[in-house]
Amino acid sequence: MKQLDMIYEGKAKKVFLTDDPNVVIVDYKDDATAFNGLKKGTIVGKGAINNRMTNFLMRKLEEQGVPTHFVEEIDDRKTYVKKVDIIPLEVIIRNKAAGSFSKRLGIPEGTALKCSTLEFSYKDDDLGDPLINSYMAKAIGAATQEEIDTITDYAFKVNDFLKAFFREIGIELIDFKLEFGKTADGTIVLADEISPDTCRYWDIETGEHLDKDRFRRDLGDPEGAYQEVFKRLGFGE
Ligand code: TMP
Repeated sequence: MKQLDMIYEGKAKKVFLTDDPNVVIVDYKDDATAFNGLKKGTIVGKGAINNRMTNFLMRKLEEQGVPTHFVEEIDDRKTYVKKVDIIPLEVIIRNKAAGSFSKRLGIPEGTALKCSTLEFSYKDDDLGDPLINSYMAKAIGAATQEEIDTITDYAFKVNDFLKAFFREIGIELIDFKLEFGKTADGTIVLADEISPDTCRYWDIETGEHLDKDRFRRDLGDPEGAYQEVFKRLGFGE
């Protein structure tokens, strides 16, 4: 397939058309942002790690019955994926309190939750991706009830798989963010990425943060944290 025009450039990825109308190319950057783009930086090697980690995990999730946009890895940074219309909801699953959940509810980071929880944010950078509930999502036409049910079901399936998978390599999956898209035929698939940009990974033994919080919170050596997770997944040995 041939790479054609760029159709989108986000904070961490570029998207290019191809000569197949149903397939686009995502190209992962080393650029890192936080606080809705207010903080900017670079995490050297992040693009390649996030690309390959996402593809690895999406292949595994397909085996678990979660359809994804993944088609084929092109190289370190680029991947063919199905062209989708992104559903404008960030789907966040939490297993322990952290981040905005801790702040909003006054619950210390690391507090166990009685059950895993799911929340939606409305994807709109100008509004700062505000938290919304499923009634609001339906009311503004972001998704139908059927789509919300499908997304919710897939998101908890992803959590069940990832939680157990990361536990095996000494990592506690604290929380993560997913995005879903609709293909030309209306099928809902998991899209975007699953990486240390979009998940909180804490070392089970030490509690060390092995994710983008190292950049967001100036904890030092984000590159090392991304490489550590990548290595534990069996890459780069
Ligand atoms: P939060 O605690 O800041 O709401 O973040 C919850 C999870 O979502 C965390 O694993 C990081 C991820 N996340 C993104 O992927 N993109 C974002 O823009 C934000 C704010 C969080």
